[in-house]
Amino acid sequence: MGFLIPFLLFLAAAADAKLTPDYYKATCPDFEKIIRETITNKQLTTPTTAAGVLRLFIHDCFVEGCDASLLIASNSFNTAERDADNNLSLAGDAFDVITRAKVALELSCPQIVSCADIVAQATRDLVTMVGGPFYTVRLGRKDGLVSKASRVAGNLPTLTMTMDEILTLFAKKGFTTQEFVALMGAHTIGFSHCKEFTNRIFNYSKTCAHDPAMNPTYVAGLSKLCENYTTDDAMAAFNDVMTPGKFDNMYYRNLPRGLGLLSVDQMLVGDSRTRPYVIQYANDQKAFFDAFSHAMEKLSLVEVKTGRKGEVRSRCDAFNSLSN
Ligand code: HEM
Ligand SMILES: *[C@@H]1O[C@H](CO)[C@@H](O)[C@H](O)[C@H]1NC(C)=O
Ligand SMILES: *[C@@H]1O[C@H](CO)[C@@H](O)[C@H](O)[C@H]1NC(C)=O
Ligand SMILES: *[C@@H]1O[C@H](CO)[C@@H](O)[C@H](O)[C@H]1NC(C)=O
Repeated sequence: MGFLIPFLLFLAAAADAKLTPDYYKATCPDFEKIIRETITNKQLTTPTTAAGVLRLFIHDCFVEGCDASLLIASNSFNTAERDADNNLSLAGDAFDVITRAKVALELSCPQIVSCADIVAQATRDLVTMVGGPFYTVRLGRKDGLVSKASRVAGNLPTLTMTMDEILTLFAKKGFTTQEFVALMGAHTIGFSHCKEFTNRIFNYSKTCAHDPAMNPTYVAGLSKLCENYTTDDAMAAFNDVMTPGKFDNMYYRNLPRGLGLLSVDQMLVGDSRTRPYVIQYANDQKAFFDAFSHAMEKLSLVEVKTGRKGEVRSRCDAFNSLSN
């Protein structure tokens, strides 16, 4: 045991050391430019892309690590990660922009750039494009060789978890409570479908039709938006009702005013362990951006594969070898 721990630490350090921001400098000099152009075109025509990719990224990283396992399509032999019950309608446009970047990169430098690196870099560029901070993305990930729907449960947070369960899950992935609260700032962009929050606005309890923590005007607006949710499952609300498309600290400013959309958003300001960080980030956007950048750099390294632990896929939705 005594010699095993230093050995494992050495392995972890070695894997980290292989990731560098200029990994493709010699082998694919246009890497940065191609990703930036692809995401810019897509985001301008489809403004929901940034949030979709950010969510796709954390869903990928929390299941098997940041290895593009989420991009694999199911086939008759394998139900892949993206078809797990709780993939919760990941945006098709998020998959699409990664596919476009991959096609462009294969033309410029075939078989060089991993899909996992494309997702990490595209996420950073999109966050920055919609107003968020710029942070360093280290590169050199390999794409994973496993993608199974059965590996999703227990690795992704859900709306039925208690704060204890959520904090335990994030701790298991390497995040402190503060880093968890900073990552939740991602809900400053994007949408949630009505079914994710109707339990807060319709028939909440015997005594109150809606969650009393919510602003009544907000509840009225959401109730109207979701009036047909049982028959129309496409309806969705902005996660940040004030500045929905802008990556800023408005998410945290909304929470104490009863303008959090999901139950987990409300829990963040209700729980004494997370509340201090909500207040801090609500008052100080720079503190939020610094914390978010740090947490995203960390998220980008979760269980990353290098060397022969993975491969560079030739297309992002399929393993190179049929036998996987
Ligand atoms: C306890 C933790 C979390 C829970 C339970 C949760 C749950 C959800 C749910 C239910 C939605 C709505 C999905 C839909 O209806 O399509 C959503 C949206 C979203 N989540 Fe989270 N989330 C959590 C943490 C995070 C974190 C840490 C990030 C990123 C770092 C994130 C990024 C997003 C984004 C960007 C969206 C909008 C997606 C879009 O517009 O396509 N979430 N989340
Ligand atoms: C998961 O997402 C994929 C691709 O977006 C979709 O085709 C599939 O139906 C979803 N699965 C479930 C169970 O929602
Ligand atoms: C709320 O509960 C009442 C009585 O059980 C029911 O008639 C009604 O359809 C419910 N409304 C919604 C939106 O679920
Ligand atoms: C709900 O359905 C009714 C009847 O079809 C329609 O008039 C109304 O506009 C719908 N509401 C929303 C928010 O889509």
